Amino acid sequence: MDAERIGILTGGGDCPGLNAVIRAVTRRSLDRGCEVIGIREGWRGLVEGRFVPLGPREISGILPRGGTILGTSRTNPYRTEGDLDRVLERFDGFHALVAVGGEDTLGVAARLHEERGFPVVGVPKTIDNDLSATDYTFGFDTAVFIATEAIDRLHTTAESHNRVMVVEVMGRHTGWIAVLSGIAGGADVVLIPEQPVTVEDACDDLRRRHERGKDFSIVVVSEGYELTYASGERRSVSQEPRPGDQFGHVRLGGVGEALAREIEERTGFETRVTVLGHVQRGGTPTPHDRILATRFGLKAADLVAAGEFGVMAALHGDEIVAVPLADAVAELKAVPPAWFDVAHAFFG
Ligand code: F6P
Repeated sequence: MDAERIGILTGGGDCPGLNAVIRAVTRRSLDRGCEVIGIREGWRGLVEGRFVPLGPREISGILPRGGTILGTSRTNPYRTEGDLDRVLERFDGFHALVAVGGEDTLGVAARLHEERGFPVVGVPKTIDNDLSATDYTFGFDTAVFIATEAIDRLHTTAESHNRVMVVEVMGRHTGWIAVLSGIAGGADVVLIPEQPVTVEDACDDLRRRHERGKDFSIVVVSEGYELTYASGERRSVSQEPRPGDQFGHVRLGGVGEALAREIEERTGFETRVTVLGHVQRGGTPTPHDRILATRFGLKAADLVAAGEFGVMAALHGDEIVAVPLADAVAELKAVPPAWFDVAHAFFG
């Protein structure tokens, strides 16, 4: 009898810990006598049939490596006529697929399972930490670590120059990275999409702080924050007309610069901006992310072996459990007010 063929793909933005998942899924599946096939560049690899066999040699030494040895893309097979049929044809002969991704990649996986009975197991990846049905995604801890280190460094230069430092961090729809790095880095104001603190209130906080004799400040802003004014006006900042992606997301970036201009004009405090951007996604994962990604990968392989499809490995408390993929992608996981309150206690 032929060995069962297990496919694995990584889709969406890359994320520290992807290689740890690939290693864990491959190792456990090989130990069970399965054949493991890496699918190149997310769903694009299934559309185009770009496969690479994964054996002990391919997964050797990849645990601490950032990025993904399989490559990734934001290809949406539901977007282009004929792509879905190509995915189904190319998948012929596979026993199961492990899809490692965020809302978009897993959204496709959930739909394929629901509409076509596709045998897929998901693994929750995103530095944004905005997937539902899991306490945390892997990659998030690394992003928070990098952002916190940057805030620490900006603190010393802010203090030397009596400046306001605005730090723009990632988080397309949610402010998880901003809130946790803001708490860890001792930010004086944190602005996120879920809690639209106004520009006027943020400036008041900075003025109050300066009145207390603190003549430098750190402001952390999430890339998805809309500039919000006391009048009720809201202004989102993106890099349009540069093209978005196949899932309809615009390219974010630039809110930090716009906010810094507002702060400087309204308060008169000299203000500088740092956009952390893709630095937050690069490089080696923290031990926490390596461990979480490894546990997710083993669980995904076990779910495949048990024939449980349409589910995702998830973290609940200290346990790795299986949850329906549909639950994971039904809605984004916003930052709860209680988390924001922790950051807010130190505003101004
Ligand atoms: O979804 C993860 C993420 O890092 C977002 O925080 C960010 O808006 C987006 O990806 C950036 O995508 P790209 O790598 O395509 O510029």
